[in-house]
Amino acid sequence: MQQTDFLVIGSGIAGLSFAIKCAQEFPDRTILVITKASADETNTKYAQGGIAVVSDTATDSFEQHIEDTLIAGDGLCNEAIVRKVVEEGPARVEEIIEWGAQFDKDDQGIFKKGKEGGHSAHRILHHKDVTGQEMERALLQAVESFSNIQLIKHCFVVDLITQHHRGYLVTKSTPDIVCYGVYVLNRETNTIDKILSRVTVLATGGVGQVYRTTTNPAIATGDGVAMAYRAKGRIENMEFIQFHPTALYEPGLRGQAFLITEAVRGEGGILRNHQGDDFMRHYDTRKDLAPRDIVARAIDSEMKKSGTEHVWLDCRHLDEKKFKEHFPNIYEKCLSIGINIHQQQIPVAPAAHYSCGGIKTNEWGATSIVNLYACGECASTGVHGANRLASNSLLEAMVFAHRCFTDAKNKIATIDFQQDIPDWNAKGTTEPREMILITQSLKELQQIMSDYVGIVRNDIRLQRASRRLDLLFEETEQLYQNTTVSPQLLELRNMITIGYLIVKCASFRKESRGLHYNTDYPGQGSMAQNIVL
Ligand code: FAD
Ligand code: SIN
Repeated sequence: MQQTDFLVIGSGIAGLSFAIKCAQEFPDRTILVITKASADETNTKYAQGGIAVVSDTATDSFEQHIEDTLIAGDGLCNEAIVRKVVEEGPARVEEIIEWGAQFDKDDQGIFKKGKEGGHSAHRILHHKDVTGQEMERALLQAVESFSNIQLIKHCFVVDLITQHHRGYLVTKSTPDIVCYGVYVLNRETNTIDKILSRVTVLATGGVGQVYRTTTNPAIATGDGVAMAYRAKGRIENMEFIQFHPTALYEPGLRGQAFLITEAVRGEGGILRNHQGDDFMRHYDTRKDLAPRDIVARAIDSEMKKSGTEHVWLDCRHLDEKKFKEHFPNIYEKCLSIGINIHQQQIPVAPAAHYSCGGIKTNEWGATSIVNLYACGECASTGVHGANRLASNSLLEAMVFAHRCFTDAKNKIATIDFQQDIPDWNAKGTTEPREMILITQSLKELQQIMSDYVGIVRNDIRLQRASRRLDLLFEETEQLYQNTTVSPQLLELRNMITIGYLIVKCASFRKESRGLHYNTDYPGQGSMAQNIVL
């Protein structure tokens, strides 16, 4: 058993930013960061376009950024939270620059600013088309400089420990559910160990792997949201799954798809259908730079009309030198599959990208469970509403990591460790006879979610999904009760929970708003409110 003052689950931008702040403030306290994969294998590493932040008040303003965020969020953003994120953003960006992250500058030393869908100004700071990789690199380097941060890799957090594990009945209406730490799967010994903490932060990232194709890496299985839900924490707005309009289409590909950043459209890239028509002009006056929900739905509609699996992104007219300078990674990736973007169009299709909902937090990142915080993609802070504005995610993660830290730092001295926590009980479980059962169930889950709970939904599809998920849930629970746990089984269990939460929220929302489009209710309801489970 291990004890730590601050326990951080996740080594992406949210978790590492929080850890660094704690280490700076409390040199004598211990900070433990756990990740189930290698240190940098996170959604953060794959971020391309950049971080939206107001850095030049001559061409941009906080009010404009706030307005753009609210418009994209389609009536469900918490305006006060949006304001905090936008106004506190520049200070957080300054910080990560101090920690070593570099953003592209022009010859005069002024930040180069990109533009993406839904933004009224050029405001996206970036590091070529590998912004996330650069930020993750800088964060991990900063972490290494603190002796009071321990980072444990390949360690899978199974569940949050609450009163439930001490034999008390815990329900959604139990007041003051407390988080005492976590159970983790130790990959070396294959045993489940306890880690006790004063403060725990969930920074476990996204859920994209619930779908057949996603821009997210394999780690994005919604573990933190599923754990918080099992611990009876509040979850909200899970129906708002953002599909990125332009993932690179590669025939037959499942799992992680390569992203073609929206910044390419910001530089003039044009979407075309198979007749060569620049179809976005028929859907929205902002054309290719309309918010993501609109562009993804338009592409979906074009693909359905033509019976094809992708549309085209035309960059042939763009300046070759400038393109290579800003998007070297995309240029190389396309070349590697035989596409010279100056001669050929890029085949693209929407892919699951981002979860706007998640673990409900207050303005300080505190969840409904005492001593448990959430920040980054797994949290629902109120900033994204029904549709996240492009490049607001890295910003939100940093602002809320800071807010969690600010709140936790004032409380840490008053929190004690809870000692009477039982060991994990693995009695009666045996090694799984066929791991293939887990892989097959995962494929079924991804199929169900992609076929019935994708960009365009309706009630019959949601009911079908719900019935099929029930069966998968039952079968997987049986496996979980009877076999020794493995990361694959734990992830499957978590992803089924995420599927259930998405379908449940989607079924409750009897309207179409933002990323949730239900053809049985094509208009908006009169009440804009969050769905909380
Ligand atoms: P992550 O960076 O995903 O980190 C999650 C961490 O949690 C990982 O370390 C993981 O191993 C760990 N973890 C999860 N479950 C467990 C468990 N059970 N036990 C132990 N550890 C666990 N946003 C922008 O603002 N701008 C962009 O340009 C941009 N581009 C993007 C491009 C791509 C391809 C993708 C996928 C996303 C992009 N996003 C972008 C979104 C943004 O990158 C993510 O939302 C953000 O990085 C999430 O950070 P995070 O710290 O919350 O989670
Ligand atoms: C992109 O670069 O297109 C992704 C940006 C984001 O997800 O915010």
